[in-house]
Amino acid sequence: MPDRVVSPKLKEEDTSLDLSLRPKRLSEYIGQDKVKQNLRILLEAAQRRSEAIDHVLLYGPPGLGKTTLAGIIANEMGVNIKTTSGPAIERPGDLAAILTNLRAGDILFVDEIHRLARPVEEVLYPAMEDYSLDIIIGKGPSARSIRLKMPRFTLIGATTRFAMLSAPLRDRFGAVYRLEFYDHAAMETIVSRSAGILGVAIDDTGVREIARRARGTPRVANRLLKRVRDYAQVRADGAITASVANEALAMMEVDELGLDDVDIKVLKTIIQKYNGGPVGLDTIAASISEEADTIMDVYEPYLLQLGFLDRTPRGRVATRGAYEHLGLKFSEKTEQDKLF
Ligand code: ADE
Repeated sequence: MPDRVVSPKLKEEDTSLDLSLRPKRLSEYIGQDKVKQNLRILLEAAQRRSEAIDHVLLYGPPGLGKTTLAGIIANEMGVNIKTTSGPAIERPGDLAAILTNLRAGDILFVDEIHRLARPVEEVLYPAMEDYSLDIIIGKGPSARSIRLKMPRFTLIGATTRFAMLSAPLRDRFGAVYRLEFYDHAAMETIVSRSAGILGVAIDDTGVREIARRARGTPRVANRLLKRVRDYAQVRADGAITASVANEALAMMEVDELGLDDVDIKVLKTIIQKYNGGPVGLDTIAASISEEADTIMDVYEPYLLQLGFLDRTPRGRVATRGAYEHLGLKFSEKTEQDKLF
């Protein structure tokens, strides 16, 4: 996979940056107003009853702040958080070990929870529902199962693929929140806030330019800010203005909407090789040598959000907006063909 500056996937260089930029309290968290409102009630009700909060599922495209929110929930509740991920828990015993080490009220955060192995998931059901662990001791005919009680804990699951969760797992979450791409106003506030924390000189036009190209994704905004800061230091006087941001982003091949060469390749493949679609995801993936899962999780959500792409039962279709953005001619007839 190419090293995309606009990838919402977590990169190593983001980690130290994220630590200082990540909001710690709900009041510092910008945007996602609906989620924040619901979460405030959930937190306050649990605090008044001095109980652990219900299990929470956060879903939505990568880079929108699922991990950040889990950390905020732990801070607001004043409890410990243990972080792991679906693919990291290989065997049921691994999960049992994690669960038996939790204390009352603790939060277990499982990222990419849709990638939990089925036998591991089955350990989770009684733990979530009855705070108990079924452990099998011994092997073969003499094996027996014992049930251990565990303290009340809160599971926070995060996923980019809601539909891939099994129904029994989905049903065990008391609160399910969907994170959305951030609007322009929220993105601008996030860029300003991050610039303030990093001590970067930037004017309003610079903020607007970076926010506009960050794909509604704070992780991308913070990364672009860092790269533009480097450029400003080397090629300008260190201050970020719209023209400095423009030059820097053009050099990184990020266009005015935040699309990079891979997004453009996806759209051009559909338009030029497959006459605008419909074309299957696997065919697109093979054409541009990317994994179908990566296209679906990482590239498509933003293209769908922009209205450049449609998902139809027969495959992906490029819309008029995509043609126009790429400066290609769109014909009504092709549109009619796709409907019938
Ligand atoms: N950094 C990343 N996500 C953020 C958010 N939602 N609010 C403030 N800062 C952020």
